[in-house]
Amino acid sequence: MDLPVRRAKPLVGDLHIPGDKSISHRAALLAALADGSSVLHGFLEAQDPRSTIVCLRALGVRVETSGREVRVHGRGLRGFSPPATDLDAGNSGTTLRLLSGILAGHPFESVLTGDDSLRRRPMNRIVEPLTLMGASISATNGMPPVRILGKETLRPITYSLPVPSAQVKSAILLAGLYADGVTTVEESVQTRDHTERMLGLQTNTSAGRISVSVTGGMAVRPREFQIPGDISSAVFLVAAASCIKGSDCVIRRVGINPTRSAVLDVLQQAGVSLKQINRQEDDAEPFCDLHVVFSPPERPLHIDRTTTPLVIDEIPALAVLAACARVGFSVEGAGELRVKESDRIALLSENLRRWGIEVSGHQDGFSFDAPASLREATMDSGGDHRIAMAFAVAGMVCGGITIKGAECADVSFPGFWRLVEHLGGGGESL
Ligand code: S3P
Repeated sequence: MDLPVRRAKPLVGDLHIPGDKSISHRAALLAALADGSSVLHGFLEAQDPRSTIVCLRALGVRVETSGREVRVHGRGLRGFSPPATDLDAGNSGTTLRLLSGILAGHPFESVLTGDDSLRRRPMNRIVEPLTLMGASISATNGMPPVRILGKETLRPITYSLPVPSAQVKSAILLAGLYADGVTTVEESVQTRDHTERMLGLQTNTSAGRISVSVTGGMAVRPREFQIPGDISSAVFLVAAASCIKGSDCVIRRVGINPTRSAVLDVLQQAGVSLKQINRQEDDAEPFCDLHVVFSPPERPLHIDRTTTPLVIDEIPALAVLAACARVGFSVEGAGELRVKESDRIALLSENLRRWGIEVSGHQDGFSFDAPASLREATMDSGGDHRIAMAFAVAGMVCGGITIKGAECADVSFPGFWRLVEHLGGGGESL
């Protein structure tokens, strides 16, 4: 689907965003491992978390959905049944990698696969630690399908993450629930810690190493999960509001877990006026309302290699925001962007060039100087939700943008295009 996006009206009043994707996946998975039923409030009703539910159902877990409320009837730590078919994780790396950790502790064979994009993403990063723990697990040339023959009891390991990845960390911690002892994961940058918070695990920092441990056999309790809005989705609205004259809006219930909120610091440092109001801590995940007013970044956005892993999902939005505000942009240490839902360095660079920007790209980053002028352009989403939504912001601010393959926004932000239309940015096809 090709969608034209024209200049939007100012963003004013209250705006609501969908539930956090990372937290929704984890809440569903942990609820499935609990002894009893859990209710998930504010669940993200989008393609990615839906893939997690599809896989859980195929493993014998009863899941009832009613809008943003989901009831999961947990089967206990060892209660999954062997799946009759391959497990289809769709576009979702989180589903595939986290579920692999759990299936490593189930003594039957399962095959996890996904769409064309997921079948191109690297899986050796989970194959290696889960093999060390004793599971038989293989990937095809390091990519899905991933075949797992789990074991009733796994070996505990201490593992240093070779790449900063919350998905890998979580896969190991989940497998650690089935280990005969204490499993520890070490990382040099603290990646998102939703799994740890849900399991009540303590993160320790000493001599620059961050580590977290889980004891095998610990009980997973059924509970009510309150899922806040996704800061990675909110950032598209923040970017649009900061660049559209007259905007003055409040984005409600945005998750501001400190392992996710570095993007707010990046925006504020660039000069975006952003206030956190009504801050609350619920269910161990803090959230607040974000008050944003028109205030385009005045300074270039430079994302250094220590900050990059903390804002990895927001880089498409930040790059487009810099271009809209006619300031420079650079990101370093972002090799992981090449193995997301698309090669985001390549796709962002291509689309920014179509827009008239001179981009210098390298293996693990890209940069551009303040663009002098921007032209009308058709942007290729490459089937990547965050690329589609980032360039929708380009259209809402500057006009004259068409997004090819716009439907992929549904992976993480259902109703995104209806919202764009409501904000006045919708073209004829909407
Ligand atoms: C996620 C972790 C990150 C992030 C992805 C969601 C998660 O991926 O980019 O969108 O839910 O754990 P990596 O773990 O590959 O860095």
